[in-house]
Amino acid sequence: MTLESSEHSPLAQTGDLVQLVSPTNKVFIFHLVPGAELHTHRGLIRFDDLIGQPWGSQVFTHTGSAFFLFQPGPTDIWRETRRNTQIMYPKDIGYLLLKMGIGPGVTVLEAGTGSGALTTALAWAVGPHGAVFSYEIRPEMQNLARKNLEKLGLLDRVIFKLRDIEAGFDEQNVDALFLDLSNAYDFLAQARQALKPGGFFGAILPTTNQVARLLQALYDHHYAFVEVCEVMLRFYKPVPERLRPTDRMVAHTGYLCFARPMLLASPPPAAGSSSSSESEAVDPDGEL
Ligand SMILES: C[S@@+](CC[C@H](N)C(=O)[O-])C[C@H]1O[C@@H](n2cnc3c(N)ncnc32)[C@H](O)[C@@H]1O
Repeated sequence: MTLESSEHSPLAQTGDLVQLVSPTNKVFIFHLVPGAELHTHRGLIRFDDLIGQPWGSQVFTHTGSAFFLFQPGPTDIWRETRRNTQIMYPKDIGYLLLKMGIGPGVTVLEAGTGSGALTTALAWAVGPHGAVFSYEIRPEMQNLARKNLEKLGLLDRVIFKLRDIEAGFDEQNVDALFLDLSNAYDFLAQARQALKPGGFFGAILPTTNQVARLLQALYDHHYAFVEVCEVMLRFYKPVPERLRPTDRMVAHTGYLCFARPMLLASPPPAAGSSSSSESEAVDPDGEL
């Protein structure tokens, strides 16, 4: 059972991924296994007592402490992801999923896997008929990501590869490819080999210096429709009488870069031809 298992049922069922939230907002996420128990700082909860309870209801520990019972959403999962690397933020992940057309049935490739936060979102988005290929150079990171995915029941959608992507990717004609590593600009030839022509390329980089290098490399490798952006998300205090932004915000995560690898027409069409050509689609200003 996965993150999506019984999303249409109003009741918690065996195997569901559930979230318990304490009065002080302490969160526990786990699968509902019959006979198992959760030991909290406020007492013990039997999973058998949760099975059949309506989502959103209050449940109680053996000492009488109340917890709320929910189905966790992707951002709840993200918050609980065990991490040893910088992980991608939901604000960036949400936009890239839409921008790169990553939805049910899509084949997507990413590097590096890191702690698997993005991998989790990709696996969730492509659904049971899609596939995620995830490359990582460090075995300990791959193991951590594997555990994070396994906990959510999404492991069967991900094919992990332990490799320096300098050596290239095994896959070809993937729909979308995303790089979250500091020197993404060094791997555009490899990315082009793996992507289907016109597919979706994306990367995230923390500094403008790295973005400038990536831009130059994208033009050198004939990628078009180039875009650079950053996503800013500001939360508000949800108090009707004093509605205003929260005191702090995550001011910077990274710059998102997107592009499409285009096919060059060969030979180029004659000058003055009125038909649209593939070479015209390679626009160094990225404004086509
Ligand atoms: C910032 S982390 C990725 C975080 C991940 N996107 C997440 O949301 O959890 C970058 C990862 O790229 C890996 N990496 C760096 N260079 C690599 C390379 N050449 N080939 C494969 N993986 C690489 C690093 O080991 C690290 O785990």
